[in-house]
Amino acid sequence: MKRIAVLTSGGDAPGMNAAIRAVVRTGLSLGLEVIGVRHGYSGLIAGDFIPLRARDVGGIIERGGTMLGTSRCAAFLTDAGQETAVQQLRDRDVSGLVIIGGNGSQAGARALALRGVAVVGVASTIDNDLAGSDVTIGVTTALDIALEAIDRLRVTASAHGRVFLVELMGRACGYLALIAGITGGAEAIVIPEVAQDPESIAATVRGAYARGKSHAIVVIAEGAERNADALSRYFTEHAARLGFELRVTKLGHVQRGGSPCAFDRLQATLLGAAAVEHLRAGRHGVLLGIVAGKVTPTALKDLGNRDKPLDASLLHLARVLTE
Ligand code: F6P
Repeated sequence: MKRIAVLTSGGDAPGMNAAIRAVVRTGLSLGLEVIGVRHGYSGLIAGDFIPLRARDVGGIIERGGTMLGTSRCAAFLTDAGQETAVQQLRDRDVSGLVIIGGNGSQAGARALALRGVAVVGVASTIDNDLAGSDVTIGVTTALDIALEAIDRLRVTASAHGRVFLVELMGRACGYLALIAGITGGAEAIVIPEVAQDPESIAATVRGAYARGKSHAIVVIAEGAERNADALSRYFTEHAARLGFELRVTKLGHVQRGGSPCAFDRLQATLLGAAAVEHLRAGRHGVLLGIVAGKVTPTALKDLGNRDKPLDASLLHLARVLTE
């Protein structure tokens, strides 16, 4: 093995740069050439490659986003797109590829592995919906950003006696909302994994005021059936009866933009370095994540069958603690 490549794909996550840096510098230390693929699978199909040397990845460990750029690439879902991508790697004599990203990106990694490419995935998405890693790269920073927002919103909510609906990202997974709700002291948490009736959420909010609170924070996952728009519509329609004043804040992409926290930098560094070592040792066709504190490989072919259940029972704990 002489030359490897690295790409980031899907939604950027804080810590991706730290992973790229670890791939490059570990590769160089093992005597490999490392090239970066710009803009994820789109760049792979287009052959948009750049050489990466040690200095090229200097000053990026503290930066969110990804220095290589990323994309969501429909063309890569086709046979023609994948064949072109494989050919681009062959043309440049690339014998191993590190793919840093979440679910969709790792499905792409699996497709490449089936076409004979030596790939190692690195689990990275703020959604934490990827099996094979307890917590994926970017999650902890995204939670810190959510908490800062919730702490600030509580101040203004209290000043006005208002209810705030705070919607967090996470696609179909309620992890970010659940953990941010618990650690941010939310009065109510709404996640896709648990069906919740708006009347019971309203009752929880009214209960908070009845216990003497001057605010109520409801943290909602974007993927919940009753997302912020739906709940806000319902509460507004029934405003006269429910009797509380409402504001809505959707954090959206703000959650992806932060400088990675220490945990994300460390996790990304460990996984990036391990990805190169796995390629070098011929242990490819795997996704690397951290399970019970250790770098752990999961076969890419098994990923699709693995669930990542959310511990929704924590909702009960959240309710007990908000008393
Ligand atoms: O998967 C990461 C994520 O931030 C999700 O939480 C969100 O639903 C989605 O990406 C947004 O995608 P885009 O950046 O393409 O708008």
